[in-house]
Amino acid sequence: MDWRFSRMAGRMKSSVIRETLKITKKPGIISFGGGLPASELFPSEELIEASTKVLKENSSNALQYATTEGYPKLRKAIADVLADEGISASPDDILITGGSQQGLDLVGRIFIDEGETVVTAEPTYLGAIQAFNAFNPRYITLPSDDDGMTVDGLEELVEKNRPRFIYLVPTFQNPDGRTLPLSRRKKIVEIAKKYSVPIIEDDPYSYLFYEGTVPPPIKSIYPDGTILLGTFSKLLAPGLRIAWTVAPCEAYEKLVKQKQGADLHTNTFAQYVVYEYLAAGHLKQHIEDVKKLYSRRMKIMLECIERYFPEEVSWTKPTGGLFLWVVLPEKVNATELLPKAVENNVAYIPGSAFYPNGGGHNTIRMNFSKPTESEIEIGIKKLGEVFKEALKK
Ligand SMILES: Cc1ncc(COP(=O)(O)O)c(C=O)c1O
Repeated sequence: MDWRFSRMAGRMKSSVIRETLKITKKPGIISFGGGLPASELFPSEELIEASTKVLKENSSNALQYATTEGYPKLRKAIADVLADEGISASPDDILITGGSQQGLDLVGRIFIDEGETVVTAEPTYLGAIQAFNAFNPRYITLPSDDDGMTVDGLEELVEKNRPRFIYLVPTFQNPDGRTLPLSRRKKIVEIAKKYSVPIIEDDPYSYLFYEGTVPPPIKSIYPDGTILLGTFSKLLAPGLRIAWTVAPCEAYEKLVKQKQGADLHTNTFAQYVVYEYLAAGHLKQHIEDVKKLYSRRMKIMLECIERYFPEEVSWTKPTGGLFLWVVLPEKVNATELLPKAVENNVAYIPGSAFYPNGGGHNTIRMNFSKPTESEIEIGIKKLGEVFKEALKK
């Protein structure tokens, strides 16, 4: 058969993470590679209660086709959660999506024409790069320092290239755990406003802070120009695939039309279940439980890294989220080193996957939400030995 696939189908590559995780699927291996929540935290009992209530009391709606925008009560409940963060969104601004990943795809659909520019940090979230790649943009990236994406030269870039949007994961970014401070958020907004460029604020992690507080969301500083993506994946469970996109009116309508064509609407039953879970008042305490566990795992990972990694290695010190970022000396290639690590029963994700235009060969993303405390201790020690060996060469 001579399949005549579209150019888009030809452009889409399998996620490096998925490919890498395949080789790291070895019995007994300790993996810092995935980005999974700890499954022991999934609130199964509360979700059983919520599902039972939905099926007993409302199955005729919960199992029916529904509107593209999403379950109105859930949208109202999300608007209330956002209000606590200083974001005044009406339920009419909120679109329920099948994960934030769908939100990213919809954003790509409504903004990117082939060859048009997208500005982002390097490194940045691989899933966003994948979603946007379907539409073949040109990426202009800005390097990151301890405070996330740097802004030197941003104005000139924006003025010259008129990007379709600036994509940011401003708080505890996947992959590096970095957070943009308020001053930098304001600077980016000032430039975005001046040139009328939208900001896509992808925010799965700001609720998961383990020390201090987080800066205000960009959406609260630039309400008319920001599309905010949020998700229950890291707060409740990613398998539910319930997330939200908050968009100003014109963009909202465009997103809804794209979603209609993609899947009509997000799983109605899951929307009802999440609503009942929220209405029963479980979320606040659950987030506290999640924070307690992840904060402990992060602390242990940071302590072990300090103890076991060679001094030539540096790393980020996040105060929230699920990830930290390791930078090896230039001469070490993290992708080439991975099989050595796997031989020693420990795995990570090479950081180069998170660079839209290539680079970062000596970087690594480390996840601390999934491995247990003892796995972290053993795995980091082993990884330290692998790094020391590589540095001898
Ligand atoms: C920055 C970022 N955006 C979006 C997503 C996708 O999340 P969801 O499960 O809601 O599709 C992730 C998942 O890891 C992420 O890290």
